Amino acid sequence: MAKMRLLLLGLLIFFTPSLCCPEYQKQALLQFKASLIKAANGSSSESQLVDLESWNSTSDCCHWSRIICSSRLDSRNVIALYLDSLFAMQFPEPTVVTSIILTPLFRITSLMLLDISSNQIQGELPGSGFANLSKLVYLDMMLNGFSGSIPSQLFHLRHLQYVDMSSNSFHGILSGEVGSLQNLRVLKLDDNFLGGNIPKEMGNITKLQHLFLRGNKFSGGIPPSFLHLKELEELDLRDNLLSMEIPLHIGNLSNMTSLALSNNRLTGRIPSSIQKLAKLETIQLDNNLLTGEIPSWLFNIKSLKNLVLGGSNNLTWNNNDAKMVPKCMLSQLSMKSCGLAGEIPDWISTQKTLEFLDLSENQLEGVFPQWLAEMEVGSIILSDNSLTGSLPPRLFNSPTLAVLSLSRNNFSGELPANIGNASELMILMLAGNNFSGKVPESISMIYRLLILDLSSNRFSGNSFPDLSSNVLLGYIDFSSNELSGEIPTKFSQETRLLALGKNKFSGSLPRNLTNMIQLEHLDIHDNNITGELPEFMSQISTLQVLNLRNNSLQGSIPNSISNLSSLQILDLSSNYLVGEIPAKFGNLDGMIETPNTLSSSPDIFSMPHEVNDLIVNWKRSKQALSSASLELYSLLDLSMNQLSGAIPASLGTLKGLKLLNISHNNLSGKIPASFGDLESVESLDLSYNKLSGSLPRSLAKLQELAILDVSNNKLKGKIPVGGQMDTMNDPNDFANNSGLCGMQIQVSCPEDQLPPAKPHEDESKDAWFSWEGVGIGYSVGLFIAVGIIYFGQAPPANLCRRQRRQVV
Ligand SMILES: *[C@@H]1O[C@H](CO)[C@@H](O)[C@H](O)[C@H]1NC(C)=O
Ligand SMILES: *[C@@H]1O[C@H](CO)[C@@H](O)[C@H](O)[C@H]1NC(C)=O
Ligand SMILES: *[C@@H]1O[C@H](CO)[C@@H](O)[C@H](O)[C@H]1NC(C)=O
Ligand SMILES: *[C@@H]1O[C@H](CO)[C@@H](O)[C@H](O)[C@H]1NC(C)=O
Ligand SMILES: *[C@@H]1O[C@H](CO)[C@@H](O)[C@H](O)[C@H]1NC(C)=O
Ligand SMILES: *[C@@H]1O[C@H](CO)[C@@H](O)[C@H](O)[C@H]1NC(C)=O
Ligand SMILES: *[C@@H]1O[C@H](CO)[C@@H](O)[C@H](O)[C@H]1NC(C)=O
Ligand SMILES: *[C@@H]1O[C@H](CO)[C@@H](O)[C@H](O)[C@H]1NC(C)=O
Ligand SMILES: *[C@@H]1O[C@H](CO)[C@@H](O)[C@H](O)[C@H]1NC(C)=O
Ligand SMILES: *[C@@H]1O[C@H](CO)[C@@H](O)[C@H](O)[C@H]1NC(C)=O
Ligand SMILES: *[C@@H]1O[C@H](CO)[C@@H](O)[C@H](O)[C@H]1NC(C)=O
Ligand SMILES: *[C@@H]1O[C@H](CO)[C@@H](O)[C@H](O)[C@H]1NC(C)=O
Repeated sequence: MAKMRLLLLGLLIFFTPSLCCPEYQKQALLQFKASLIKAANGSSSESQLVDLESWNSTSDCCHWSRIICSSRLDSRNVIALYLDSLFAMQFPEPTVVTSIILTPLFRITSLMLLDISSNQIQGELPGSGFANLSKLVYLDMMLNGFSGSIPSQLFHLRHLQYVDMSSNSFHGILSGEVGSLQNLRVLKLDDNFLGGNIPKEMGNITKLQHLFLRGNKFSGGIPPSFLHLKELEELDLRDNLLSMEIPLHIGNLSNMTSLALSNNRLTGRIPSSIQKLAKLETIQLDNNLLTGEIPSWLFNIKSLKNLVLGGSNNLTWNNNDAKMVPKCMLSQLSMKSCGLAGEIPDWISTQKTLEFLDLSENQLEGVFPQWLAEMEVGSIILSDNSLTGSLPPRLFNSPTLAVLSLSRNNFSGELPANIGNASELMILMLAGNNFSGKVPESISMIYRLLILDLSSNRFSGNSFPDLSSNVLLGYIDFSSNELSGEIPTKFSQETRLLALGKNKFSGSLPRNLTNMIQLEHLDIHDNNITGELPEFMSQISTLQVLNLRNNSLQGSIPNSISNLSSLQILDLSSNYLVGEIPAKFGNLDGMIETPNTLSSSPDIFSMPHEVNDLIVNWKRSKQALSSASLELYSLLDLSMNQLSGAIPASLGTLKGLKLLNISHNNLSGKIPASFGDLESVESLDLSYNKLSGSLPRSLAKLQELAILDVSNNKLKGKIPVGGQMDTMNDPNDFANNSGLCGMQIQVSCPEDQLPPAKPHEDESKDAWFSWEGVGIGYSVGLFIAVGIIYFGQAPPANLCRRQRRQVV
């Protein structure tokens, strides 16, 4: 692709003197710049324009940056505009501009190359404008917010060879409708209803060699008219909603080098015509709904380098074909969830150039082959199989190993002592195996390490590698092992997640925890931590999750915990905490904001969803919340302690809380009426305390409430009615109180027994039953997503492609 640009430049550019660009083109460009400045200044956080300083009225526009003029002697028309990434990176809010700013550019009809990628431009493409650019050969619009359908004028640009519309919100025309303005408005109301076919007229741009429509909202089938694009070399339709079968004759496009259709809903089999594609280097079909056997002829395509299958497809593999001899030489092989059984296939050893191997979610057995350890592959992902045995030390002498994920197999034995020799290793995930012995000291030598997940094994011992010089290591998960001794603290300041739960750690919480000044997630549940919950914990101001459940903490909860303004999940349950619930908990800002479904900032660490799912008491059972979507949750669990005194009314301000559990304590007094303000709460457990008085009527305001347990208190009076309260009809949730009544538990209240006509006993029973069906509100259950690791992609082609423009 960069090649393509070079070619274009090579043909057109050589040194020419004197002539300037036409005045009208210069004016158009200055006008464009002026509207950019207006847009940049108008944005909420004033942003900078990048590399436009040279654009001024006194100089020749052929000498400006981002511009190339024709080198013909008679005219110096502007022929190429590299207008990508015009605005300096802005977080959290990028500058947003509308497609109107493009208007001046449409006067420059001599344009052959237009790159307006990565600019956050919103709105529909101005079709009439593009009709002017009849000489266009290269058009890059990726990474904007263009919406609507592709204007028909584009299909008349017969010279187009390169079109990139990836990562926008383009959609097609819904079948039969020629998207009248009215229809489009209606469609825009709900993103989920967008879709529509890729316009079949794309097949009219017969010179097209590179077409990228990745990451839009196209649905329907791949248009058969694409088979007219005889020159097509690269087709990228990944991340759309495409369905139906891959065109049977796709193999007629004999110049195809890359066919990328991942993450759609394509059905049917892999068309056999693909074996005719003698130049095919990349085929990505993963995460569709394809069926049938993976054809072995794929491995006979000599040019093939990247083969990515599997994921949500339902493809099968002929496991009897073990003697296969591939004719290709792959650098990327991904066959996740493809029904591979038996040992890791031998024929992989013939792929000497392999850099990326993903065979996760299969039924592979046997040991980690020595030949694979010797192949020096960069990424090896074999998670979710049934592999056994210990790891060959040779694996860690590989100078290329960057990702090793072997989670959820049945590997065993000690980790090789030379593990520290894997100097390029960035991601090491060995969770859910049967590894034992000490955590090797030499891990501290892997200084590129970003993610270390050794959870759910049988690692033991009370000495621990000093990882304080592993300055990139952000995620550390040692939970569910048999580690003992003091809580280790020798980790880098960059540590964001430290999970040590379900081990045998003892002693008190060490002050050195506060050295981790970026720590967001600290989980030490199910250990034997003693002593008090120290004041200094409040110094880790970045904490979002603090889980100390099931330890032996004593003393009272320090007020200062309420200074942790990012805290969204606090679990102190099953300890020996005494005293009152600090009234200042009402200030926990992280629990006040209503959880947002949009993650605030893009984060490299949100990638491995597998890391540390948080186990919480959720609706009476233990559930795993995916750490990838923790921002959705806000939980406060103080249950199973010896807390006493009254419940502070200020807890009612925690509007973001989805779960509040203060059961199994010695709390007394009334349930605060302010609990009616816990507008997000789904699960409210106050059972096993000494609460008295009646249930506040305000509880009827809780529209999300699914579970309310007030049993084993000293409550009396009428259970409030209305809203979700009408559905709370499990008698166990109200049992062992001092006289609760209400239709929910079929105990009539004195005030409801109207004096004159005392109904017959049977009738009253009927009446209660009829009540139960009434007004069952809805409750928005939590989306409990247990994420999956997905490193299965090479970096998006688009990112690799961003090579800087040539210096002319
Ligand atoms: C707008 O942006 C320009 C340059 O980008 C800058 O010189 C100017 O100060 C900004 N503010 C206003 C109000 O124009
Ligand atoms: C205009 O830009 C040119 C370079 O393209 C520069 O040499 C010149 O000084 C600039 N003039 C003004 C008035 O900024
Ligand atoms: C097309 O170009 C002409 C000049 O060649 C210009 O007058 C016209 O405004 C342009 N059309 C659009 C839609 O920009
Ligand atoms: C596309 O080409 C077909 C003939 O191959 C022609 O009938 C049709 O009008 C063209 N459509 C457009 C939008 O150019
Ligand atoms: C395919 O590519 C070759 C060489 O790049 C070129 O000569 C040919 O015209 C292209 N088109 C078709 C349909 O083969
Ligand atoms: C594809 O090529 C085959 C011959 O190889 C031909 O019979 C068929 O008509 C072609 N199909 C299309 C849609 O071009
Ligand atoms: C996958 O395909 C097999 C037949 O090849 C079928 O029996 C099975 O039900 C399919 N599974 C799913 C989830 O569609
Ligand atoms: C792991 O291997 C042991 C024997 O070494 C076997 O008993 C056990 O069932 C295996 N577990 C899994 C999950 O395959
Ligand atoms: C680690 O690698 C070096 C060479 O890079 C080698 O000399 C040494 O023997 C290796 N260590 C082990 C324990 O294999
Ligand atoms: C783990 O390995 C031990 C032997 O080291 C074996 O007794 C045990 O069954 C294994 N556990 C599992 C779950 O495979
Ligand atoms: C605690 O941190 C300090 C540096 O802040 C360090 O000197 C000391 O050795 C650490 N103690 C332990 C037990 O890790
Ligand atoms: C926890 O530690 C305390 C004191 O160190 C000890 O008395 C107690 O037995 C331990 N509890 C468990 C379950 O190991």
